Amino acid sequence: MSLLHKTVLGLMPAVPRPLVRRLAGRYIAGETLDDLIRVAVDLHRQGYLTTVDVLGENSTTEEAAASARDEYIRAVERLSEAGLASQVSVKLTLLGLRFREDLARDLLETIVIHGESRGISVCIDMEDSSTTDAILRIFRAMRREHATVSVAIQAYLKRSRADVESLLPLEPAVRVCKGIYSEPPEIAYQDRSSIRRSYISLVKLLFEGGGFPAMATHDPQLLASCLRLARDLGKGPREYEVQMLLGVGERLRPRVLATGAPLRLYCPYGPDWYAYSVRRLKENPRMVGYIVKGVLSGSPFRRGHMA
Ligand code: FDA
Repeated sequence: MSLLHKTVLGLMPAVPRPLVRRLAGRYIAGETLDDLIRVAVDLHRQGYLTTVDVLGENSTTEEAAASARDEYIRAVERLSEAGLASQVSVKLTLLGLRFREDLARDLLETIVIHGESRGISVCIDMEDSSTTDAILRIFRAMRREHATVSVAIQAYLKRSRADVESLLPLEPAVRVCKGIYSEPPEIAYQDRSSIRRSYISLVKLLFEGGGFPAMATHDPQLLASCLRLARDLGKGPREYEVQMLLGVGERLRPRVLATGAPLRLYCPYGPDWYAYSVRRLKENPRMVGYIVKGVLSGSPFRRGHMA
């Protein structure tokens, strides 16, 4: 990342919250469950699958963690009532992982069991590297009992190959993503080509080891390599899926659907949208241009400025 890029993105905390909300609107399915259901029904009608994320992370009390569990239960019920064979994506720190691992595991299990009887699967999001061991511990325990649970793995982490190898006996479904948190070079690849290489090798490992890779990326070159790999290994569209974030990579979507691959869209919703929105805005390659142009014109964030 260039110095200019870093400097401009460093200005993000100074951007007023209402502007962040407006700029990040495209990435979020809404603030209420009703908003989410409307978006999800529409996406399923268009031929997509969905994974639904209740926005928020890092609960600091048991009450907050239990309340997040309750919101997931409501989401599972509404998705099932709407007849959507959807998935929910769960951040274990929202369920209390940072202060009580057993609490996070128990709350997750309630969601998994609730989903199991209603045709809704559960994917555990991967968070910053201080949580990787605990997340994988919980995933392993859960996967032994529940086939409907999957986990995300980050290609930028140097440990991920060994992690995936150790998970293969569980024949896991794994969402492979590049990784979004800022991690040091001792533990994480920093350059684009190493991350891509690691990503492809994880997908290959999953294919060859009896796992189910969910390729979560909007990187056209990387996605083409993964789909080529699937074809070369004789893997059909029931043996993998592609995943993308709501509001990102729209132009790639028809190309993916045309290959016959299922495409699942990650749909976050809820009032706690700030941290997620900032992560998405920082990843938007056009964001720096918007900010610089806005500053030069004396009106940093005019309405309608975003593509
Ligand atoms: P890259 O960042 O290179 O983006 C490729 C292209 O996509 C860009 O050139 C641009 O055109 C477009 N693009 C990407 N982000 C954009 C944005 N915000 N706005 C506009 N355009 C954008 N991470 C994690 O650590 N733990 C997790 O559990 C998950 N879960 C997850 C689920 C799903 C379904 C996806 C798609 C991604 C995640 N991630 C994640 C995030 C992931 O690690 C990664 O940060 C982003 O997907 C961006 O990486 P890409 O592979 O898309 O490549």
